Amino acid sequence: MSFKKIVLAILSIAILFLISCGERQNLRYFKGAIATVHPLATETGMDILARGGNAIDCAVAVGFTLAVVYPQAGNIGGGGFAIIYINDSSYVTTLDFREKAPIFAKQDMYLDTAGNIIENASLLGHMAVAVPGTVAGLLEMYRRFGTLPLEDLIDPAIKLADSGFAVYEILEQELEASRDQLAQFETTRAIFFKNGEPLRKGERLVQTDLAETLKRIRKYGRSGFYGGRTAALFEASSLEAGGIITQTDLREYMPVWRAPIVFDFHNLRVFSMGPPSSGGILLAQIFNMMEDFDLSSGDPYNPLFVHLFTAACKRAYADRAEYLGDIDFVDIPVQELISQGYARNRIADFDPTQATPSNMIDAGHAWRESESTTHFSIVDQYGNAVGITYTINASFGAKVIVDSLGFFLNNEMDDFVAKPGEPNLYGLVGGEANKIEPQKRPLSSMSPTLVFRGDSLLMVTGSPGGSKIITTVALSILRYFQFDMSLAHAVNQPKYHHQHLPDILYYEIGALEKSEASKLEEMGYTLKEISAYGNLNVVARKSPEKRWEAESDRRRRGKAATVY
Ligand code: GLY
Repeated sequence: MSFKKIVLAILSIAILFLISCGERQNLRYFKGAIATVHPLATETGMDILARGGNAIDCAVAVGFTLAVVYPQAGNIGGGGFAIIYINDSSYVTTLDFREKAPIFAKQDMYLDTAGNIIENASLLGHMAVAVPGTVAGLLEMYRRFGTLPLEDLIDPAIKLADSGFAVYEILEQELEASRDQLAQFETTRAIFFKNGEPLRKGERLVQTDLAETLKRIRKYGRSGFYGGRTAALFEASSLEAGGIITQTDLREYMPVWRAPIVFDFHNLRVFSMGPPSSGGILLAQIFNMMEDFDLSSGDPYNPLFVHLFTAACKRAYADRAEYLGDIDFVDIPVQELISQGYARNRIADFDPTQATPSNMIDAGHAWRESESTTHFSIVDQYGNAVGITYTINASFGAKVIVDSLGFFLNNEMDDFVAKPGEPNLYGLVGGEANKIEPQKRPLSSMSPTLVFRGDSLLMVTGSPGGSKIITTVALSILRYFQFDMSLAHAVNQPKYHHQHLPDILYYEIGALEKSEASKLEEMGYTLKEISAYGNLNVVARKSPEKRWEAESDRRRRGKAATVY
């Protein structure tokens, strides 16, 4: 070996040694990693992590902060799901704080006397509202696993609501997009409009009523929202506007701890949300159907991979409509649906050269969901993790602010099937399993998800996107682990989606080259290019020795950070 080669070899070993010392040093001072949709929420979370708070403390603080700074989806007037990993006991659990239909809800409440769907009834104003679960969910997580004083976790949100913050570009755009509907409600105009116009970028958004509501939660805990003044004002506001939510609905609302859906994909173990979310079951089905195929040669944009992924999605989404709803009301064959044997049978008729039209894959169903939801991911220095996806359904939910309470109400009732078997506004149909019943939870696609290899947690992932959430989450896992992309690429590269019906393969601008699109069209696909959807907020590491990284979809200008 020449002298030059020996010097180079010694230098390489020295560099590798220094990198590994750096990694160890970093791991020693690591306080946590976080990705959320808004810089102010991420900074609140970073502060909690830096002070030694655990992932649950951090998630509670972020959840309340987003209710202030991201009113289009962050909320106390909606609901969601949390997936939680407790490192000490190697325990994964999920918390269902999905909204519930009010006690007075009826299966036909959105139909006129002729049995037709009443336009916007399940979308706009008090009739569209399901009983909110977010406050109960955040407080229940805190009760079980929190460590810092609760006041410390709510105070940052109260301060931001009281002192206000500058309206940012995305908020301006979303207010503008919903201006006509928002303007219908005086309570909403009073906060989000100035001189008859939605607030503009740079103007200050102060939310005094919301701050007062948060102060009551800080002082009285659960009953600061589900009882007392808040519940009384909520009921009065609802009944006056023709809604049906009463104080009894609020008092009786309880979140539920549920076992996660668990499945293996090659050497990964994935934990995700079970019913009333469809996310975990569909992820299991999609991954199980792909497991026996050779994916080693492809990249995620290779038409052959897109074809296989789509075939798996079509079958899984067809099952969604047939079988899935609130597990407290409907018998769901969960173990069968997520079994490898079932997946093999389901994909047995896959033709690698041709798309199978959706009408030949069962009489499947799907239904319209809004894409306005938000997800955040957190790991802490103790090895715990939390992923939360929560929502008020549409952007700004039902568009109505509760009088004197300062928060937007959800329109989650629209996630039920208003008329079983009949096409909805998008020409889609849904099944009996998701019909409206009192105190039932509407079926969701929200999929906060954890990925492990062996005992080691490697990823916390999740996204908004309505029915596209599930494929977005699936692609984040496949790109990062199966196709070994960087986290930045796994999160930010354009995506594609198929949900069985309509029989269209959607792809984000730039996702498919002309030649890839032509190849898929030759196989029988109908393609449709659409603008960006979803908003992944992910923390991940390639292996337990590596540093945690955090990434927030750059198109949505969130903030991802590691804390040391
Ligand atoms: N509202 C959207 C979802 O729950 O999937």
